Amino acid sequence: MAATQMEQLVSLCKRRGFIFQNSDIYGGLQGLYDYGPLGVELKNNIKAAWWRAMVYERDDVEGLDAAILTNRKVLHYSGHEDTFSDPMVDCKKCKGRFRADHLTDGKCPNCGSTELTEPRPFNLMFKTTVGPVVDENNIAYLRPETAQAIFTQFKNVVDSTSRKLPFGIAQIGKSFRNEITPKNFIFRVREFEQAELEFFVKPGEDEKWHEEWKQNRINWWVEQGLPRDRFRVYDQKPDELAHYAKACSDIEYAFPHGVEELEGIANRRDYDLGNHTKGQEEFNLEAHCHENPESTTKLCVRDEENNKWIIPFVIEPSMGVDRAVLAILTEAYTEEDLGNGNSRIVLKLKKHLAPMKVAIVPLKKNSPEIMAKCHELKKNLMKLGIGRVALENTGNIGKAYRRHDEIGTPLCLTVDFETLEQSPESVTLRDRDTMEQVRVPTSELAQYLRDYFAR
Ligand code: GLY
Repeated sequence: MAATQMEQLVSLCKRRGFIFQNSDIYGGLQGLYDYGPLGVELKNNIKAAWWRAMVYERDDVEGLDAAILTNRKVLHYSGHEDTFSDPMVDCKKCKGRFRADHLTDGKCPNCGSTELTEPRPFNLMFKTTVGPVVDENNIAYLRPETAQAIFTQFKNVVDSTSRKLPFGIAQIGKSFRNEITPKNFIFRVREFEQAELEFFVKPGEDEKWHEEWKQNRINWWVEQGLPRDRFRVYDQKPDELAHYAKACSDIEYAFPHGVEELEGIANRRDYDLGNHTKGQEEFNLEAHCHENPESTTKLCVRDEENNKWIIPFVIEPSMGVDRAVLAILTEAYTEEDLGNGNSRIVLKLKKHLAPMKVAIVPLKKNSPEIMAKCHELKKNLMKLGIGRVALENTGNIGKAYRRHDEIGTPLCLTVDFETLEQSPESVTLRDRDTMEQVRVPTSELAQYLRDYFAR
């Protein structure tokens, strides 16, 4: 059934304008997707919910928005040039190329041949050159993670905000990985978005903070509508850890294609700040805090308790935004049997994530009086700051309800002749999940909606 569930989702995403294949009219480009009119709203709402929880609701986190193109030296000292690779095998028969760790039976997934090359490392970073001269000296990379700019801007953020440990720097943005086998819709793609927090702490306090962030992030996922029994926390074994990590806990979710990582919460110790400060060799901070021959800045803080320079440890909750979209859509997608052979598809998104908050639906198409009232209501509703309000003019209420159920709009507001004729003036509000309707006087509408969408 799992494949069917994914097919249903992919179909809904295309039909209703959430997600399209990139470069579709030319046959697509593998591992790349574009977010359509509703997808961009959903994704923005997920990012806003993350930013609100990570930055606005806390007093110990600052934000950052750094460039995607990255100086080669950053990714040299971060270890990505040498180690950020997947093992790859080639099929000698059909020339297909696959991740060695994704093969289950030693056979080519394309043609079934067992004639495969030995695994070889394949670096996942996209390389380019900056400026008009294409040569070795001008190589840069599209960042493979947003985290590195947080490390390299560490000192600038500390100096400009006077932050003391513990504190964090949050960033949301695009990252790029030349995946050998992108697959499972938007789960494994070559251009994707990350929401990453680097939370800097004193060495020795890292394990306590790692635990704290694990709990924090699980609670956040529950608030986004993922029930606890749909995900699990997997602590990576030592041989599974990334080159920089001391420990990593994956929050895994039951995606339609299987249980896989939604977010990683890593203890990156002092690996990155240390390497950008001291190069890749063993270092002695007290003797000399700045031994990286190529970096100009020491990424340390003064520990006022014992008057020593320290390189902070860092805990990193790192969420894949596209994976978040997929998990949230999977969880929200519901087919309901309404009896008498009728059914409906409804996207039971949390209100704060819904692409459209309210759909204003006129009872009659092209009626100047009703449309004038609809426009007036839309203008007033926009002032509430609750998010996007759609104005329909189809004249087909049943069709409008079906569409808005499918895209997860929490409320449909109907303007009918009673609205115009009766005093006090009122409208009908229909709830997406219960399908119940209430009549609300327009004089009370603003407060009703404010309360309804309050968080
Ligand atoms: N920053 C962690 C990762 O990209 O996997």
